[in-house]
Amino acid sequence: MRSWPADRIAFGGDYNPEQWPRATWREDIELMRRARVSFVTLGVFSWSWLEPAKGEYDFGWLDEVMDLLHEAGIAVDLATATATPPPWLSAAYPEILPVDRDGHTLWPGSRQAWCPSSPVYREHALALTTALAERYHEHPALAMWHVSNEYACHNLPCYCDTCAAAFRRWLRARYDGLEALNDAWGTAFWSQRYTDWDQVLPPRRTTTFANPTHQLDYARFGSDTLLDFYRAEKAVLTERSPGVPVTTNFMTLAHFDLLDYHQWAPEQDVVSTDHYVVNTLEHPAAELAFSGDLTRGLAAGQPWMLMEHSTSAVNWQPVNPAKAPGQTLRDSLAHVARGADTVGYFQWRQSRAGSEKFHSALVPHAGPDSARFREVCRLGEVLERLGELRGSTVEADVAILWDYQAGWAASGPAMPSSALEYPAVAHTVHRLLRDRGVVADVVHPSADLTAYRVVVVPTLYLVTDEHAAAIEAAAEAGAQVLVTFFSGISDEHDHVRLGGYPGAFRDLLGVRVEEFFPLMPGETVTLGSGSGRLWSEDLTAAGAEVLDRYAAGPLRGRPCTTRRAVGRGAAWYLSTLPDDATFDALLGQVLDAGGVTPAAEVVPGVEAVRRRSGHGSWLFLANHTDQPQSVTASGHDLVTDRPVDGVRLEPGAVAVVREG
Ligand code: GLA
Ligand code: GLA
Repeated sequence: MRSWPADRIAFGGDYNPEQWPRATWREDIELMRRARVSFVTLGVFSWSWLEPAKGEYDFGWLDEVMDLLHEAGIAVDLATATATPPPWLSAAYPEILPVDRDGHTLWPGSRQAWCPSSPVYREHALALTTALAERYHEHPALAMWHVSNEYACHNLPCYCDTCAAAFRRWLRARYDGLEALNDAWGTAFWSQRYTDWDQVLPPRRTTTFANPTHQLDYARFGSDTLLDFYRAEKAVLTERSPGVPVTTNFMTLAHFDLLDYHQWAPEQDVVSTDHYVVNTLEHPAAELAFSGDLTRGLAAGQPWMLMEHSTSAVNWQPVNPAKAPGQTLRDSLAHVARGADTVGYFQWRQSRAGSEKFHSALVPHAGPDSARFREVCRLGEVLERLGELRGSTVEADVAILWDYQAGWAASGPAMPSSALEYPAVAHTVHRLLRDRGVVADVVHPSADLTAYRVVVVPTLYLVTDEHAAAIEAAAEAGAQVLVTFFSGISDEHDHVRLGGYPGAFRDLLGVRVEEFFPLMPGETVTLGSGSGRLWSEDLTAAGAEVLDRYAAGPLRGRPCTTRRAVGRGAAWYLSTLPDDATFDALLGQVLDAGGVTPAAEVVPGVEAVRRRSGHGSWLFLANHTDQPQSVTASGHDLVTDRPVDGVRLEPGAVAVVREG
């Protein structure tokens, strides 16, 4: 077998048989069959079992498990097991341990305790990857390689001396000499000018604010360093195990932003990600949907793999509520709606020991005789039926731009308002669109924007000239481009673009801002219609039509929202974060101008997404409200396996309607 299960939405999860006696393995296989599991990810944290001493491999147990799975027709996404070193490795080479900002070593005893720049760690990891590739390349259960695990989750940034030397090498390749680095980092400020490369350090704990460009480059360096590590593992697999797809699981969830996944995505044979619902968010289901649309953007619109999510509670939030009945199915299908063709979980069987013993799983502590396992079995059944839509793509006429590097710069030190978090506006726009049944692709500014009717540019604080030009070209070509405050402010070195904000977009928008007036927490400003929060600014609009104005406070009478006709499209500007109703009304105008229609006519709280292929179209509907809801749609509902003519959804229910 050399391909991912092709006839269905793949269903399964992380399998850690080394935590269980052999008798349990047999039961696992039987239960996997019962639940219609079609794949497992094996070996993610198995290094100390696979290589109990340097160069001494013990593959016996893994052979056995691979064979059992193959006999049961379950495909294996085999990990390179390099996510966490065994204790013997860090004992022999303590220099592989990561170091935090304050110079503290992060000791073994948890996971991912390795320095991203360590050549010693890399050498040992590549040796293990080589051994695994050679041993299992021919195994019929092998369907995919899973490199490492959630790169960067715990070991980035590392501030050790090995990283310091590697950072200098990275900087020398990036900058044409030390003076170029001094210019880029603006070291004329606070006597920071370097006269020798050896003076350059990681941005360790400082007295007060660190140099923002130094920090920005360190974030870029960290992402590049781990990407280089991934490439090295992938190269081993491509050479020793040709033809087997390779992936590593991203973390496109809530506030994870340590890697620039737009640079990583092209290196994946198939993009995969992990997503967990964060209960402390104000709108967790909306964040889940955003994550799916972001992952699809990384996959360039193609189907992607949800490698991990949870059937119920996690163990790493302050309080870990269980999922409500029906939520396991609803959350999974929300990912499928947004382009996932694989539904994976962490993990198959809930651990008895270790720090994840209270993390939910497909088989809970209570065992198979449980409501959770019955829901898992029902999910397996539904996913089998959904096989017909595999390979279809999601329809979206709107793009929301997302750039990890802009986010890094915007979260730099000493900004106008620390209350402004990079994802806030993008998430708000996405949520309001979702409430209208309008689907957006979340894409990088370098994506081809010309096919979109509407392009939203939220908080694109740092922007290159090239990306700014592409955004302008999209408006010229006919898109309605909506730019929000604190966009286009700085260049790729995080130097402010002078002459008035938003420097990069001033001409496009026909506006000019002389000063920011960020609002205090809880403070609002009255607008002509509705109110704004978080931000306001002293805006003039010599070249644009004024759509709304500040109606109170120091900016009273000043423009707040504007629009300028550009080529065949238009450029809209929003200088505050309005209340939902006001923001929604503005989005309505922008969508109307762009001729964007929803996937289905829905009320807020009912989610609607359409996937389409050459074989047909499928409308995904989910009712997140506490009332029954009806949606005009007809066809065959693959969740209930019944024909429908008008869909009625109970609170919490989902439908996947094959249309026509
Ligand atoms: C102090 C310092 C200045 C400057 C200001 C900023 O006064 O002496 O260099 O940093 O704070 O408010
Ligand atoms: C991540 C990891 C898994 C597990 C889960 C728990 O996704 O990859 O090993 O720790 O978190 O939510």
